[in-house]
Amino acid sequence: MIRFIALVPLLALVACSPTTSPQAGRSLFAQNCVQCHGADATGGDTVPDLTGLALRAGGSYPQALVLDKLDGYARGQTAYAGVQMPQFGFLLTGPLTRVSLPGGMSRELPEKIVALDAYLRSLQRVGD
Ligand code: HEC
Repeated sequence: MIRFIALVPLLALVACSPTTSPQAGRSLFAQNCVQCHGADATGGDTVPDLTGLALRAGGSYPQALVLDKLDGYARGQTAYAGVQMPQFGFLLTGPLTRVSLPGGMSRELPEKIVALDAYLRSLQRVGD
């Protein structure tokens, strides 16, 4: 019984998956993204506001766009005021995790990208 009780917090920890949490994404963002997108992620003249991703996409958070941007798949497809975002190869390194996507699909993605996606989702403004 004691052994079972000791396992419960451990299982809860695994379920929260700290490596893919918004908090993990927040520290990755602070280390790699603030220099362009700003500490509050609202961007600037030549860099998009990442708190308005959902608003610009008509109200729902554009997860596929964000994932494609971060894994480099969408590199070169968009420019904002003539400027393109650099690619971050290190985001593709490390453990993978399976993510459910709309329409019953799922995709294996690096945990760092999933954490950044979770953080960006948590920043979305609901209206102006
Ligand atoms: C050197 C400046 C720079 C850095 C650093 C940077 N970005 Fe960007 N980002 C841009 C620019 C410029 C764009 C718009 C052009 C494009 O999409 O390539 C952009 C676009 C984006 C978009 C798509 C926005 C849209 O509305 O289409 C996302 C999401 C994003 N960045 C997230 C991030 C994250 C997360 C990081 C950190 C890992 C990051 N960016 C680091 C400059 C930067």
